Amino acid sequence: MNIKIFETSEQLDNYAAELYVNLIASKPNAVLGMATGSTPIGIYDKIIESYKNKKVSFSGVTTYNLDEYVGLTPDNDQSYAYFMNKHLFSHIDIPQEQTHLPNGIAENMEEECRRYDALIASSPADIQLLGLGHNGHIGFNEPDDNLSFGTHIVKLQEETRDANARFFSSIEEVPTHALTMGVGSIMKAKTILLVVRGSDKARIVKEALTGPITTKVPASLLQTHQQVIVLLDREAGRMLG
Ligand code: GLP
Repeated sequence: MNIKIFETSEQLDNYAAELYVNLIASKPNAVLGMATGSTPIGIYDKIIESYKNKKVSFSGVTTYNLDEYVGLTPDNDQSYAYFMNKHLFSHIDIPQEQTHLPNGIAENMEEECRRYDALIASSPADIQLLGLGHNGHIGFNEPDDNLSFGTHIVKLQEETRDANARFFSSIEEVPTHALTMGVGSIMKAKTILLVVRGSDKARIVKEALTGPITTKVPASLLQTHQQVIVLLDREAGRMLG
């Protein structure tokens, strides 16, 4: 694993954005695995800045998002589809039909999972961006005795609903289920870019990167991937030796 610890969040954002700009310069039809949550927002802001400065075009890029809440329509401002439009897609030149998320309001969830898996299989990600949950989840792959390979529906842990409640007006509004790419699909990405910020995640960062590889800490599986880049701010990296 290639672990980089940055003094400031802005340095981290600049580094990550440059990575994307360079990737797309060398491969204009790059496939990007995208993530939501508060962690990637600064990176998306810098990517938008690079686009506005004409350093990069997304016209040939395809994106696949990790996950989506079950029951939220794309125009619901808490859905991840809405998040992606707000924080990235509406500011860059990516054609809408080249952006993909699981459909949280599909009539048949099983079919939706298979549809999404087939799409991902048709174009594996060049780089998959990941945040990290406090319990070690990636996407919405929660700690469990078993993890799923492909896209599936998950019941969110109360800890995860609590953590994400800050985006909603009350905890009751936080969906109980989500659709998420499985760890198998995540691990197929050529490069994985794990980004973590804040001292509240320092313990789980240490566990995921240096502890035993276990389904109880889904991010620990990343230790078995050949090409992982980890970007941490100083606080998130403070427990690493
Ligand atoms: C959510 C998302 C994850 C994200 C995690 C951490 O549960 N499904 O993809 O990594 O939250 O979010 P944050 O970056 O806001 O701490």
